[in-house]
Amino acid sequence: MDKILVTGSNPLAGSVRISGSKNATLPILCASLLSSGPTTITNLPQLRDVDTMLAVLTTLGVKIEKKGPSSVILDTGACDQYEAPYELVKTMRASVLVIGPLLGRIGKAKVSLPGGCAIGSRPIDLHLKGLNRLGANIELSDGYVNLTAAGLKGTDIYLDFPSVGATENLIMAAVLAKGETIIAGAAKEPEVVDLANFLNRGGAKITGAGTDRIKITGVKELQPVEYQIIPDRIEAGTFMVAAAITKGDICIKGVVADHLRAVITKLQEAGVQMVDDKEGFRVYTRGRAGLAGRAGLADRAGLAGDLRPVNIRTLPHPGFPTDMQAQLMALMSVTEGVSLIEEMVFENRFMHVAELNRMGAQIKIEGHGALVSGVKSLSAAPVMATDLRASAALVLAGLAAKGTTEISRIYHLDRGYERLEEKLRGLGAEIERISD
Ligand code: UD1
Repeated sequence: MDKILVTGSNPLAGSVRISGSKNATLPILCASLLSSGPTTITNLPQLRDVDTMLAVLTTLGVKIEKKGPSSVILDTGACDQYEAPYELVKTMRASVLVIGPLLGRIGKAKVSLPGGCAIGSRPIDLHLKGLNRLGANIELSDGYVNLTAAGLKGTDIYLDFPSVGATENLIMAAVLAKGETIIAGAAKEPEVVDLANFLNRGGAKITGAGTDRIKITGVKELQPVEYQIIPDRIEAGTFMVAAAITKGDICIKGVVADHLRAVITKLQEAGVQMVDDKEGFRVYTRGRAGLAGRAGLADRAGLAGDLRPVNIRTLPHPGFPTDMQAQLMALMSVTEGVSLIEEMVFENRFMHVAELNRMGAQIKIEGHGALVSGVKSLSAAPVMATDLRASAALVLAGLAAKGTTEISRIYHLDRGYERLEEKLRGLGAEIERISD
């Protein structure tokens, strides 16, 4: 199994380009099932989760043709299968996003129920309740959920929690349903908006995406289209923290600031400097800017990287994203003072705390909160990645630690970050991947 070795201390410098959004790509790949013909997706990130979704679509009869590293053509003309098997769903929960389009297209879906995962039990009850209201019959047997529908009908749906996946599955199911569907209490994430934009380009009638009330007026059919995925806001946020934690000065290309308001505001509150100009999105710590920083004068003036602790509470969009919680915790663990980080979206998303503490961080979990007492510096240690964003937090901690940190189980990282170590190396980080 591969490991990552990361050696701390270099302030990052230079520029980096953000890849396509993983969480926008996965539902859009599924949504291609709703039209019959060749859909072209560009700005496709090269990730293990994307490969897994392409494998799920292949089992459903979709013909896939890669056009270069970041473009794919999905020919859905021959899609006649409707089962997403356990072997694939167990490796990626987002496989359940085929349910909505399969019901819409062939009126049947059989999908393995996703089990628990490292960040909680993560049920799909909201998906199923909404699909049932649209007219799907649902049976659970042998670890699978079987859904059938003799024509879905538009209806009013209310989500008790703005689940991203449930909102996406229901939009996709409703697009070809008869009549009008309203999803109240919908998720407002940019990835939901990207899905709606993709579907609308093919002829769907979806309004209100990005608000908590989405209206879908059913249409008879969708046309296959060409579509470019939005940049990955979580990858962008992770690089912002990488700049801050190394007291660097980097330019991030492909940031949609509007997708990252909460993260940007919190980092600014912590004292991180940011400028959005035509070159890209520049992130640096005070004192590193301009000539003074480059000449090292800032260090002498004692200004470099004097960050402040900030409290963070994760919430559905536009709140602070849970997918950035671990990375901010890594930053706060080396920011003098005390910060409180509360996780309100997932029940068990502090697996990285024990690993950060092994590197000398002082973090105490109390209920759904983590109290972080910033230390002057972390020290390298062998650590284990536990989930995707936790892995990113360990890489960030390694960038700020004394010595060489060895991170194992990095397959988690490959699920959701495209060539992370290569991109960080391009910014001057000492990081390499080794095979065990
Ligand atoms: C998506 C993202 C993930 C992100 C999360 C929250 C993708 C592929 N993944 O995951 O990176 O961390 O949004 O922003 O887009 N819940 C229920 N019942 C349901 C569905 C969800 O109780 O039927 C709960 C979950 O257990 C969790 C919360 O709702 O506590 C949020 O989950 P949800 O928004 O659905 O996350 P995902 O779509 O799985």
